Amino acid sequence: MVSRVVFGRGSFNQLSDILEPKRLNVKAPFIYLVDDVFKGNAWLTSRISLAYEDQLLFISADKEPTTSQVDALVEDIILTYKDRPSGIIGIGGGTLLDLAKAVSIMLTNKGESKDYQGWDLVKSPAIYHVGIPTISGTGSEVSRTTVLTGPKRKLGINSDYTPFDQVILDPELTKDVPTDQWFYTGMDCFIHCVESLKGTYLNAFSQSYGEKAYDLCKEIFVEANGSKEALQDKLMMASWHGGMSIAYSQVGVAHALSYGLGYLLGTKHGIGNCIVFDHLEEFYPEDVALFKHMKTIHNIKLPQGICAQLADDEFDTMINVALGLEPLWENALGKNWKQTITREKLRTLYEKM
Ligand SMILES: [Fe+2]
Repeated sequence: MVSRVVFGRGSFNQLSDILEPKRLNVKAPFIYLVDDVFKGNAWLTSRISLAYEDQLLFISADKEPTTSQVDALVEDIILTYKDRPSGIIGIGGGTLLDLAKAVSIMLTNKGESKDYQGWDLVKSPAIYHVGIPTISGTGSEVSRTTVLTGPKRKLGINSDYTPFDQVILDPELTKDVPTDQWFYTGMDCFIHCVESLKGTYLNAFSQSYGEKAYDLCKEIFVEANGSKEALQDKLMMASWHGGMSIAYSQVGVAHALSYGLGYLLGTKHGIGNCIVFDHLEEFYPEDVALFKHMKTIHNIKLPQGICAQLADDEFDTMINVALGLEPLWENALGKNWKQTITREKLRTLYEKM
């Protein structure tokens, strides 16, 4: 679990005070990885105080993070600074948060990040790392994974060293998120809840968080219950609780298939989940109906036919990625999932998307 968290509108202003005691020495910088949508946005950047050799890197979140991107960032940091950094601070959505987590792990662990994709492969604790979400829903701020696209698979580095040491939850930072992105990323949270609550791995810990987040999603996306600010606050907490729910259970069918789309087509996680979930009535009937209702309320039109032109070997690639995520299928359908989830079945589902 994340060991320290602050919440509140304007809490981003506490960043320097939080970091100050964590500076190891003047040669050990804090490295800020910031979503490049904030480039030239003094409202946010003027509140980051750089001292000594601290560095702020703007990084595009147009593409989701890759293992080679993580390895290049780590190499750069090692070659630039004699001392190991005092900390890595990720400011952005799931992409930036996952990058910050992965870089902080790879600064203390040998080899390449692709070697750590999987469960509990990380040997040494990561360096101090801080997550500051600027969009709500992914749960990356609280999860014990950092999802990377590697040469062979799209899979997270899942470990006890992955979660942030500190998170700053300031809902005001989400005020400029465009509506479609707000919906897709919010639905990532909704789908976390569904897959956790309907999964076989469910336990009282996951259920308590999942139910709260599910209800918050309904308040936000169905009832629109409250002021704009109140809804931003609620979605930030829904993201947190949804993330906590899957941290102790697992995601399911939508995430497995969405990873296939992401790996082959580069479809981003939030929209990818929406495209998949739209076709999962047979697995999650009531929740897919509610999803379609929310889509209508917010006038969201999802891309259609993204798999229409794909060749057989491309379908095979997506199916391989999806089937490789065994814990997700086992959570969704139980130990005997292989009896119903065949390659043909997944091909039929992908063909609908
Ligand atoms: Fe997700």
